[in-house]
Amino acid sequence: MSALPFRIGFGEDAHRLEAGRPLVLGGVPVPHAELGAVAHSDGDAVLHAVADALLSGLALGDIGQYFPDTAAEWAGMDSRVIVARALELVRERGYAPGNVAVVVTLDRPKLGPLRADIARSVAALLSLPESEVGVSFKTSEGLAPAHVQTRVTALLVRAGEG
Ligand code: C5P
Ligand code: MG
Repeated sequence: MSALPFRIGFGEDAHRLEAGRPLVLGGVPVPHAELGAVAHSDGDAVLHAVADALLSGLALGDIGQYFPDTAAEWAGMDSRVIVARALELVRERGYAPGNVAVVVTLDRPKLGPLRADIARSVAALLSLPESEVGVSFKTSEGLAPAHVQTRVTALLVRAGEG
């Protein structure tokens, strides 16, 4: 058991984008995306970073250890399963997510209209109120037009604190 009542986690992910593939972020399909993620799983870069943030907060490694991207059984998998597993590992250690902050860097399309949907979706996966999930969007200013980058911080709160 950790000596700390609160622990911070940080996760990151990136995927190359290609035409003719779906783009899913935070469990939300992005309509009218010209490019989608090249990935072994469903390529949900938000959920991959969320899962890594949860695991890193308790020094539990990263999602590749639990879901190797070479394993045939995980091909095309729904990344919500990955988050559910990371959450289970956090809870087994007596912690729960307090709040999370998500940053998505993507040139196109504009994601502003999906902000509330993504926050709601991530919050539901973590059993948090929507108000505990911050979602920010940035462009790469044209430096990486065929690329999605995500970064997530997560505060983990020990049972009985906060
Ligand atoms: O990266 P930049 O600062 O130019 O982004 C300007 C604004 O555009 C951001 O505040 C963000 O809310 C929005 N944005 C968006 N969807 C993206 C990238 C940025 O809605 N894919
Ligand atoms: Mg990924």
